[in-house]
Amino acid sequence: MLRTHTCGQLRPEHIGQEVTLCGWVDSTRDHGGAVFIDLRDRYGKTQVVGSPESGQQLVEQASRLRSEDVIRVEGKVAHRPEGTTNPKLDTGEIELRIESLEILNRSKTPPFSPTQPELPAEDLRLKYRYLDLRRPQMQQTLLLRSRIIKTMRDYFAEHHFVDVETPILGRSTPEGARDYLVPSRVSPGKFYALPQSPQLFKQILMIAGYDRYIQVARCFRDEDLRADRQPEFTQLDLEMSFVDADDIMGMIDGLVVRLAKEILGLDVKTPLPRMSYDEAMERFGHDAPDLRFGLELTDCTDLAKQAEFRVFRETADAGGRVRGINVTEAAAQFSRKRLDELTDWVKQGFGVKGLVWFRVEPNGSLWSPVSKNFSEDLLARIGQRMNAQPGDLLLFVADSWELTCKSLGALRKRLGAELKLYDPRSMHFSWVVEFPMFEWNKDEQRWDAMHHPFTAPRPQDRDLLETEPARCRAQAYDLVINGSEAGGGTVRIHDSQMQQKVFNLLGIDPQRARERFGFLLEALQFGAPPHGGIALGIDRVVMLFGGLESIRDCIAFPKTQKATDMMTEAPGEVDRKQLDELAIRLAAPAQK
Ligand code: AMO
Ligand code: AMP
Repeated sequence: MLRTHTCGQLRPEHIGQEVTLCGWVDSTRDHGGAVFIDLRDRYGKTQVVGSPESGQQLVEQASRLRSEDVIRVEGKVAHRPEGTTNPKLDTGEIELRIESLEILNRSKTPPFSPTQPELPAEDLRLKYRYLDLRRPQMQQTLLLRSRIIKTMRDYFAEHHFVDVETPILGRSTPEGARDYLVPSRVSPGKFYALPQSPQLFKQILMIAGYDRYIQVARCFRDEDLRADRQPEFTQLDLEMSFVDADDIMGMIDGLVVRLAKEILGLDVKTPLPRMSYDEAMERFGHDAPDLRFGLELTDCTDLAKQAEFRVFRETADAGGRVRGINVTEAAAQFSRKRLDELTDWVKQGFGVKGLVWFRVEPNGSLWSPVSKNFSEDLLARIGQRMNAQPGDLLLFVADSWELTCKSLGALRKRLGAELKLYDPRSMHFSWVVEFPMFEWNKDEQRWDAMHHPFTAPRPQDRDLLETEPARCRAQAYDLVINGSEAGGGTVRIHDSQMQQKVFNLLGIDPQRARERFGFLLEALQFGAPPHGGIALGIDRVVMLFGGLESIRDCIAFPKTQKATDMMTEAPGEVDRKQLDELAIRLAAPAQK
């Protein structure tokens, strides 16, 4: 090593020792003849001093250093003079009085300083990612990520899981997003698809008798990006044989306990609470509800049927829903302007037609610009249903079940954060279970698999597959952390006839099923054990454990909203020759 210690290592016990440090110049200060350098590396910062005793030439050399130069210094560890110790720094009691200085490399003036207090613009951070990754916050996050993955690997190794890698170049997998395709040179006109998940391979591994599989797996999905989505992301993927849903949730409960303890020092009680999908949608309007606060949805559709207010009555009569939330003690905080802004937000964001609000007056009666359209008796009953107390604010949406869920679920989330109804650093872990097997695809007039087509129905719902698919519930479970879907999995179908039946229902005819998943259908006929699994989104887990706002801050080299890498400028154009080899002709020339 070119150094004896790191920049975060020296303490008073090292005083008097001769040491050598290497690192980046964080800053220099010239104090009348003495030069102070903050020398930085991944481990911390150390104050390095070049004073007249070090020799004039050395002081001059030190004073010419610039931010981000890389240097090597030798010298003696000394106590900092009285009154100059820095309790905020681990190395704050000592300094290094240098005897020699070597410049290992010069840096151009960086577009931002890795330790400047204000966050640089994100496009700069992504273009100069190596400078951004020097920021202590980014280094902490990547270390956190590394610790989380190590804890996961240790835990599963202790439970006899086998780590198996599965192919990146493969056939299209069925998670429902658009595929990234890779053209084949040796088979012109044919394409590999990058895996949306290792789903089919891990099922094959169960059929092959591996019993317990894990992988830290890269997944690729060409979908619209959001704050918690990347086109290329990482799953902790696992599969187990001879298990039911409880066994898999139990295994993950154990992992959550371990992660919470080792990473955050928190004690989490298990079993983690479980809630059915129906209950989550009814009470919170969301299939991954944030359970750190209340603001639950309350149904008033039956009362709305009796309302003179047309919006409510007609929606209820037409089979829609009228639901509301009671924002307790909040009426005084919401001016007309703020309520109008909230109304526009739900209208524009979720396509509902409006938001009806009521203030609960000191005498307990409800008041709203539309309250004259309600009888006093009905208002009293609505108030009672909503458990309205003086000073409360009631918000209602009348629309389809889906849109009342979407709009009120989002409103609840927004108000919970704005009104600070929970400690943003607190952690809440739970399961949502009993998801529907299918969702109706209105555009294409057919059923889609809610999770994926290999998910087993609950045993008691098998007959509903033929009679009432809408009511059929899956053996599916999502891990929810603080209102985010951190993981999802299911017990799989292990019987080829049942698999065929589900394909039929999804409109995948036998020929297409054979073309796309023939190997799985065949493998299911060679002794497939009952099996199931789950995948956790590692980037999301890091985001949640680190209390971070953006998934891009949890990934060393992330992509932008437009799925580009600003540092390498991928995706990029390719040579004509490469296209010719792949037998590809572009319909439109790539735009510069
Ligand atoms: P699913 O599609 O639910 O299940 O994915 C599992 C978890 O992966 C994370 N995730 C993502 N993270 C970042 N960016 C994305 N674009 C993204 N998409 C998903 C989420 C999600 O909960 N094969 C099944 C698992 C199984 O059934 O075992 C699957 O992939 O945290
Ligand atoms: P309008 O009759 O469209 O002027 O609406 C009267 C009030 O009812 C306004 O405050 C609207 O925001 C609200 N409103 C209209 N449609 C709905 C709806 N579907 N759900 C909730 N509120 C609505």
